[in-house]
This record gives sequence, structure tokens and C-alpha cells, in this order.
Amino acid sequence: MNIKEINDTPGQPNMFEALFSHATIGIVVTNMQGLIINFNKQAEKDFGYTRDEVMNRPMEILLPPSIKGHHISYRDGFYKNPGPRAMGHGRDLYAEKKDGSVFPVEVSLSNYILDGELFVIAFIINITVRKQHEQIVLEQKMELEKVTREIKQMNVSLEKKIDDRTKMLRETLSALEQSKLELSDALKEEKDLGDMKSKFVSMASHEFKTPLSTILSSSFLLEKYNDLNEPAKRIKHINRIKHAVNDMKMILDDFLSSDKLDEGIVQTKPIYISAEKCFEELNDVVQEMAAHRKEGQTIETNYQGTGVIFVDERLLKNICINLLSNAIKFSPEYGVIKISCTINPSEVVLSIRDNGIGISEEDQKHLFERFFRAQNAVNIQGTGLGLNIVVRYVQLMNGSIEFESNLDSGSVFTVRIPQ
Ligand SMILES: Nc1ncnc2c1ncn2[C@@H]1O[C@H](COP(=O)(O)OP(=O)(O)OP(=O)(O)O)[C@@H](O)[C@H]1O
Ligand SMILES: [Mg+2]
Repeated sequence: MNIKEINDTPGQPNMFEALFSHATIGIVVTNMQGLIINFNKQAEKDFGYTRDEVMNRPMEILLPPSIKGHHISYRDGFYKNPGPRAMGHGRDLYAEKKDGSVFPVEVSLSNYILDGELFVIAFIINITVRKQHEQIVLEQKMELEKVTREIKQMNVSLEKKIDDRTKMLRETLSALEQSKLELSDALKEEKDLGDMKSKFVSMASHEFKTPLSTILSSSFLLEKYNDLNEPAKRIKHINRIKHAVNDMKMILDDFLSSDKLDEGIVQTKPIYISAEKCFEELNDVVQEMAAHRKEGQTIETNYQGTGVIFVDERLLKNICINLLSNAIKFSPEYGVIKISCTINPSEVVLSIRDNGIGISEEDQKHLFERFFRAQNAVNIQGTGLGLNIVVRYVQLMNGSIEFESNLDSGSVFTVRIPQ
């Protein structure tokens, strides 16, 4: 009996027949022998067989050859334990068309018993389109994975390249920094050397000024005494000139010997001399400087102390020349300049006092700076080097210098050289 016969029961509308025929999935009904006893329109469409062509034929004609063999045993298994279920359990299922082509399907099974006989209903959905979509999605997924892998690899190699470049850049930068430092060190060294040399030359020229003017004035007087035929005075001035030339020679030796230029210092050569010898030397300076006095200026001396001292007499003399020349230069005509030297066991104290223009408090702060000249001295000849040189000499002898000054009433400079 087939479904048509069931539905032909009187009084029942032919609804089941319509459902069966027009269902949009394929429906195949088989009997206990596995023979097809019903085949709906959708099945005809999917498999390419007409209903008549498959009726009473084994349902295995709908399966591809690779499955046909096992299927009979699956079918027997189902008849022994029938019930609704989906087929396949994770496997892909395939069916075969009349023309031998194979297509993917999804199958679910059901059964019913009529007049004691078991019938099996297979609901078959053609999933070709879905599979195609799945395939496309799968391919796209694989493509995506491939691209992702490639991007990852590119990323890795890019990161490595960036690391390498960054490292190279860092190395180049630090090399650059290093050579910049070296260059600026070299430049600084060269500049320092240049500065030092020019400082030396200007110091040497400064110290030439006094002996040069002595030579000038003595040679002028020599000319004069020659006319008057005064041999004693001539000898005095010839000696002064000799003395001054000797001073200049020593200055040259001191300043321009190349090793001293490189070291940037004048070396001190202290010797033991008696207090009397020291006062004599200072007196010579006073004599020498007397020639440079202004009209009516007097220089008073005051020496105290006895014994032996350990000093560089040339440096001491040069200090005295510089301080005395300032006192003469910055005090008026008829002014009194006082030079005193006191020798005691612990120190030699040299002080030079004048009643000249003095130094303002503001200018006193900068007095020992190189080339510094006070406001009230701008119209008086000078370079601003003398005191700076004095300070260096004092330092060379581990001594100290101090001064007191008041505008328009005078100054006193005091140098102490420890023994
Ligand atoms: N006895 C002094 N009385 C007043 N001002 C002084 C005296 N000694 C130094 N000064 C001030 O200090 C400045 C610096 O003195 P410094 O001896 O260094 O230079 P200078 O005498 O002007 O020039 P240079 O000694 O190089 O010929 C002077 O220009 C002056 O303004
Ligand atoms: Mg001076």
C-alpha cells in the first residue's frame, strides 16, 4: 500500500498526497526490501529519474558506487532499530543522479508501520548550493589565513629591518656625537692655546713698557750730557740703559721660551737674599720710576726688618714697578707716594700708597680682571693689564694682595709674600 492508498480513505481530504508531492525537499519511501515505493516531485527533480523509473527498484540506485556496497548493511541496521534520525553523523553524504553525476545531500530518516510492515521515509535535501557556498567560505578563510600569515611574516621581517636600521642610526648618531665632542674639544684646546699665547704676548709687551721708556729718557739725557761734557751723568744713563735692556732680555726669556708658552705660566725662581739686598733692589726700582714722575711728585720709602728672605726678586721688582707706575699715573702733580717694605720672620709686606684719584666701590669689584679700567681712568693712558699681571705674580709666590681706596683721596695696595 502506498501513501496515495492511505489517503484514499473515504472522508479524508487528499491533503497528504498534496503535501507529499509538493514538498520542497525530496522524499523517497522504501519497503522492508529496500525497494522504492514512492518518489515525490522534488526527488524527481534532484535525481533526474521519473517516479515510474525508480518504482520497485532498490534505493541503492540513488547512491554513488563507492557507498552502494556498505549501504545495504546500514539499511539492515536501521530496520532492526528503526526511528527518526539524521544520517551521516558528521560525514558528508552524496547521492547519484540518473546521469551518473554525484551531488551532496542531507538526509533524515523516519519510518512507519502499516499492516505490520515497516516502511522507511528518507527526506533528502540537495545541498549543492550550500556546499558551494561553504567551499567559497572555506577558500576565502584559507586565503585570509594565508594573507594573515604573509602579513605576520612581513611584520616580523619589517620589525627586524626597523630594529637593524634603528641600531645603525643609533650607532651613527653616537659616532657623530663622539666626533662632535672630539672636534669641539680640539677646537677648545686650540682656542685656549691661542688665547694663552696672545695673553703671554700682551703680558710681555706690557712689561716692556717701563724699561723701554727708561731707555728712551736716558738716551735723550745722554745726548744732552754729551753736549755739556758731563762724564759721570753719562755713565749713570748708560748704566740705566744697560739695566733696562737687561730687564727686557729677562722678560723675553721669561715669557717667550716655548715651554713656558705651552704651560701658560711664568716660573718662579726664588733665591735667598738679605733684607738689605731686597731694599736695594726696591730702591733701584724707585730710582728707575723716578724718571716717570709727574711734576713735583715725590716718592718716600720706608724699609724695616733684617735677616734673610727667600723670594723671586725679579717678580717682586715687577710687582713694585707695576704698583708704583699706577700710583704715579693715577695721582696728581705734587702728590706724595709712599712705598714701604717690612720684613719679618713670617712674611715680606710691600705696600704702596698714593693720594690720587682713587677707585669707586663699584669698580673695585673688577679691579684685578684683565683689561679692566675704572670709570675715572678712561682718559688716562693704560691697557688694564698691570694689576692682572701683579695678581699672577703674587699667586706664583703663594702670596696675597689687598687694597683700600676712596674716590679722590687715594689708594693703598698691600702685597704679602709668606716666608
Ligand atoms: N693707584 C691707583 N689709583 C687709582 N686707580 C687705580 C690705581 N691702580 C689701578 N687703578 C685702576 O685700576 C685699573 C687697572 O689697573 P692696571 O694697572 O691693571 O691697568 P692700567 O694701569 O690702566 O694699564 P696698564 O697697567 O696696563 O698700563 C686702572 O685702569 C685704574 O682704573
Ligand atoms: Mg697699570
